[in-house]
Amino acid sequence: MSETKRSTWGSSATFILAAIGSAVGLGNAWRFPNLAAKHGGGAFLLVYLVALITIGIPLLMMEISIGRKMRSGAPGAMRGMKKWFEPIGWTATSNAFVIVTYYAVVFAWVIMMAVFSFKFIGMTGNNEAASGLWAGLIKTTGTIKGFGDFSVPVIICLLAAWGSIYYCIRNGTKSIDKVIKYLIFLPVVCFIIMTIKGVTMPGALQGLAAFFIPDFSALKDPMIWVDAVGQVFYSMSVMMAIMIAYGSFLDDKSNIARDGLIIAFSDLAVSLLAGVVMFTTMYGTGMQDVLAEKAGPGLAFIVYPTAIVNLSNSGIFNAFFSFVFYFCLCTLAIDSAFSLVEGISTAFSDKFGTNKKKTTITVCIIAGIISLIYTSGAGLAVLDIVDNWCNSFTLILVGIIETIAIGWFFKTDKVVKEINRNATGFKMPKVWFYAAVKVIAPVALTIIFVWNIVNLFVNNGGLYGAADGYNMLSNILAGWVIFGLCLISGFVINLIKTKNQPKEEKSWDGVEETED
Ligand code: PHE
Repeated sequence: MSETKRSTWGSSATFILAAIGSAVGLGNAWRFPNLAAKHGGGAFLLVYLVALITIGIPLLMMEISIGRKMRSGAPGAMRGMKKWFEPIGWTATSNAFVIVTYYAVVFAWVIMMAVFSFKFIGMTGNNEAASGLWAGLIKTTGTIKGFGDFSVPVIICLLAAWGSIYYCIRNGTKSIDKVIKYLIFLPVVCFIIMTIKGVTMPGALQGLAAFFIPDFSALKDPMIWVDAVGQVFYSMSVMMAIMIAYGSFLDDKSNIARDGLIIAFSDLAVSLLAGVVMFTTMYGTGMQDVLAEKAGPGLAFIVYPTAIVNLSNSGIFNAFFSFVFYFCLCTLAIDSAFSLVEGISTAFSDKFGTNKKKTTITVCIIAGIISLIYTSGAGLAVLDIVDNWCNSFTLILVGIIETIAIGWFFKTDKVVKEINRNATGFKMPKVWFYAAVKVIAPVALTIIFVWNIVNLFVNNGGLYGAADGYNMLSNILAGWVIFGLCLISGFVINLIKTKNQPKEEKSWDGVEETED
């Protein structure tokens, strides 16, 4: 696509809302409260805030600014800085592709739970029925066996999930513009309704105390730092080709230093709101202990249904509350899911000059077909393995390489200048940015990466999920092979040539012609 035709956000508010929509997702609703419960409540909030300020905010601004400067998706933007940076952008893009194949399925589960909320009418106080509802619907075997057995409700909801993802981004920034305000304000309204119910429950005060009052002894556990940095990355949607693509549609006059702060603190605000809802509800229903134990899907689909049937004696009220809860999760999930697709299709259409709409639909169809794997009996186990490698290995590795590349092999000064180009009021200070990109992020991420490797090989004998009966073959196929493919994807993709491929080569300091 030539520069003049590149679509842009309708207004700076649309960009901010779309970026918040991507950042605020299922991770705010269950990963954040879960980690807070695990790591001493307020103590985790403090550490998270430190990680957000020292790493999250500078990297978010960095990605948005290189997108705006280069007017290109992740691979092209990275290439514009130095040609050999391009594969880093592709690894991020490929990882986003892998993530969207299963994120769409989690989104489908959430749709399914909203639809099946009526089942809670007859389940008041019945913990067993409530906690088993989701597992029964998705027909999971809980292990890597059972590929043949597909769940029809999940497939139907998956179709709805992909349909709605495509609908929202069919015309890129223009169609995002139309839906984004609803997708941001609806979850906030839902959370506020749930907060009112939560804080009026007996035990709510204890819940609030547990969430906000720091248990300083938790700071001694190194895992609190590992988890906080990981959550900052996950929650801000950085290193996933998204923020670069979103930045590339920005108006040249936009104020990135200000927008970055708004995005980061809105994301934090939603995490805090979700935390209040979860802590008060769990303490109110006497289920506080499980909040710290289970993570991810277990928390959202097993623990919350159990809490829901204990909310009140009225089945109808509980079912209504459940519908609000899962509907809220739907609105959280959809704009994160479509941001992944948008990052991928932008990367491709920029590189190969393909029609954006056709590229988007192709990505949705291919990822949609692949996502069917997770609707089988073995799907949950496969999802667990894929998710673990994407977030513990690929994402972290991209973070290390991207920050080292930009921090040490490119003039970092140019990036700070780009961030602050239109800044009025707050400007990103150079020391803060340099410290984050050159030192704190690479060091913290390397420690996390090494820790994850040691944890896998030393503590778990090299096999992830042994307790759940996963075998080595499943780890190799769903973990290492996909990891390897993401790493080499940039080199392979570069072998492809298309007839519309842009001839000019964009670079940070101007446009030049390619030699060949
Ligand atoms: N940031 C989203 C969240 O907090 C998750 C996400 C991950 C979104 C990857 C897009 C890509 O849930």
